[in-house]
Amino acid sequence: MQDVEFKHFKLEVEDGIAIFTICREDKLNALNPDAWDDIDRFSDYIEKNDGIKAAIITGSGDKAFIAGADIGGVASMDTLAAIHRTSSDTQVVLTKLENNRKPIVAAINGYCLGGGFELAMACDIRIVSENALLGLPETNLGILPGAGGTQRLARIAGIGVAKQMILMGIQYTGQEAVARNLAAMCVPQDQLMATAKKMVVRMTRKGPLGLEFAKKAINMSLDTDEKTGMYIERLSFALLLGTEDKKEGTNAFLEKRHAVFKGR
Ligand code: COA
Repeated sequence: MQDVEFKHFKLEVEDGIAIFTICREDKLNALNPDAWDDIDRFSDYIEKNDGIKAAIITGSGDKAFIAGADIGGVASMDTLAAIHRTSSDTQVVLTKLENNRKPIVAAINGYCLGGGFELAMACDIRIVSENALLGLPETNLGILPGAGGTQRLARIAGIGVAKQMILMGIQYTGQEAVARNLAAMCVPQDQLMATAKKMVVRMTRKGPLGLEFAKKAINMSLDTDEKTGMYIERLSFALLLGTEDKKEGTNAFLEKRHAVFKGR
């Protein structure tokens, strides 16, 4: 099934779940341009591969999920055109990931800073370990979070939290992140992957088309007025009513058995 190569990420597939791990431990998994390309390829891979039902993104080692974009690369960017290009490229990569058909969980195992936190915010659900530290320290470097961070953070946790994290550089531990709606759950580090897998398995038991359309409708709710959003929801509902999955789901309930969805 694995027909794609990655420079800095390792891909494992277990029971239809793709586990994507960044492996730059010596640099606390900082994202260089090749790693951003890997993320984009991974996005395409899970989008197009019918055997993949959901994905987990994590970092290797027990110290960092991702400690941000690679600062060496940022330091060498000195023209406005280069900076603008990079920001727009990383925004495109993460927006594509955010709108992937499949659900994606970020399993955050330590430092989750800058571009790492921006990547985690483009995932559907975030689970953090107790030693996690979430932050957007770009203003320390004289820049700002340029991969969608200003927009996603304000939408996920509100403008107040966004301003505290970006303007004041406040960083939150795992427990604090849950309290501020930045993550769904905080667990001891040795339980992180098992918890992430359990969450993903729970989603993979649902009808995949229902998940896909629900995810799109929820994501679009942030960009549309309520009336338009309701219309998108109604149209999605009408489409799903005609699917084999809907027949299987309702029949399975009435026949008191587990549904076997085929995504059709
Ligand atoms: N880009 C490039 N390299 C990074 C990096 C980043 N974002 N974050 C960490 N590294 C590298 C360090 O340079 C160091 O490399 P070296 O051993 O070759 O010198 C290695 O990873 C280990 O990091 P170190 O700083 O020694 O670990 P620490 O435990 O003392 O500190 C952090 C951890 C996360 C607090 C610190 O590394 C840090 O502040 N990183 C930058 C975070 C950031 O600003 N991210 C946003 C970037 S836009």
